[in-house]
Amino acid sequence: MNEERILIRRAGPLHGEVVIPGAKNSVLKLMAATLLADGTSTLTNVPDIGDVGIMAELLAAIGVRSEWAGAGTLRLVNDGDISPVAPYELVERIRASINVLGPLLGRFGRVSLSLPGGDDFGSRPIDMHLRGLEAMGATFELQHGVVEARAERLHGADITLDFPSVGATENILTAAVHAKGTTVIDNAAREPELSDLCNFLVSMGAQIEGIGSSTLVVHGVQPGDLHAADHRVVADRIQAATYLAAVAVSGGEVTLRGACAEHMEMLLRRFHDMGLTVTTVGDGLAVWANGRLRSIDVATLPYPGIATDYKPLIVTMLSVADGVGIVTENLYPGRFRYVEELQRLGADIRADGHHAVVRGVPHLSGAPVRAPDIRAGAALIVAGLAAEGDTTVTGVHHIDRGYDDLVGRLAALGADIERVPAS
Ligand code: EPU
Repeated sequence: MNEERILIRRAGPLHGEVVIPGAKNSVLKLMAATLLADGTSTLTNVPDIGDVGIMAELLAAIGVRSEWAGAGTLRLVNDGDISPVAPYELVERIRASINVLGPLLGRFGRVSLSLPGGDDFGSRPIDMHLRGLEAMGATFELQHGVVEARAERLHGADITLDFPSVGATENILTAAVHAKGTTVIDNAAREPELSDLCNFLVSMGAQIEGIGSSTLVVHGVQPGDLHAADHRVVADRIQAATYLAAVAVSGGEVTLRGACAEHMEMLLRRFHDMGLTVTTVGDGLAVWANGRLRSIDVATLPYPGIATDYKPLIVTMLSVADGVGIVTENLYPGRFRYVEELQRLGADIRADGHHAVVRGVPHLSGAPVRAPDIRAGAALIVAGLAAEGDTTVTGVHHIDRGYDDLVGRLAALGADIERVPAS
């Protein structure tokens, strides 16, 4: 039996408009934050992706119900009947499950959470999350793979993160909103999705200063003082970058409605260096590409640097660019697995530890490949657009975890791409 796959053929320039959905790495955290207050919160611009469904299942097991109220609108109902236990079967499916820790610990003083596993691109420790919460008075005990977290009422603390970890900043922040006193998080992550979470928390009644900066100051409120709120999810900069990369390797002219240039500043500068023309238009971006891309060197860094999640797309673009590019990964040492798949398509890449040297070739050549994770899966689809002949991508469920109808949206722009059901 053949599993479901995506079939891509090179089809020339892309044209038209694409609407950029809300960000996976924001909506999952916003959903977890609804544990902080009783009532019904409504999120809009919610992407229709697999991970939203998994987070909804996890929250349902804990006591918050999710229901779609039309396309892109998700209602989360918290009746106050919460059981602060995150079971292994759900936690192991999604990294963002760790985001229930902060809200539950801060509000209820106890959580029983299965330890999240690693990803295909390496181990993903949570030591910074735990150290920050310990400084606020929490205790942790690990038994049989389950972290038992306890706290009377958390207290404010001055916490300096060793590294601006997105997840650690979020967990400390969502715990601090209910702590007694003031918490200062220094070297905090500054990703736009984190600011989106801060803004949601503020609309729930939290008191946060320094939003968007690397020092967040949180004045705790009494448990019970936060209320449900409505919020529009920030646009997904990684999905936006995926459409930019698709145009970059195919040529053409496309408008990305809803994409936010300000959140992608550094990336857009580097894409400009590669020969892409990107301009801001009314409520989004317009991209124009014609001719072969130029190679550049790129290093990933926490925001506002070039995000690690863009990297598979950049490596794919460099695979067909003119010249040699060196890509340095500073976040996840193992995040080069998809390189072997790109090599199957004829890319000339040497990857070693944190570095990859990419020598551009004029064209890739289609072949069957497998998506090892969400971002690499999307990059393999972009590679298929640049390859002569048929490319088939399996491991489609990874792509569906984070992309809202990537295949339909690319097809609407003129790409020759379709889903082939399992047979
Ligand atoms: N780290 C530690 N200890 C910790 C926390 C992090 O050593 O306690 C290390 C990690 O191992 C990693 C680095 O710090 O090397 C960065 O991790 P971070 O905590 O910033 O990442 P995350 O919160 O686990 C989120 C996104 C990832 C994205 C990273 C970096 C979600 C659900 N995930 O992960 O997105 O790559 O930030 O920007 O928000 C994806 O969407 O496919 C994805 C993997």
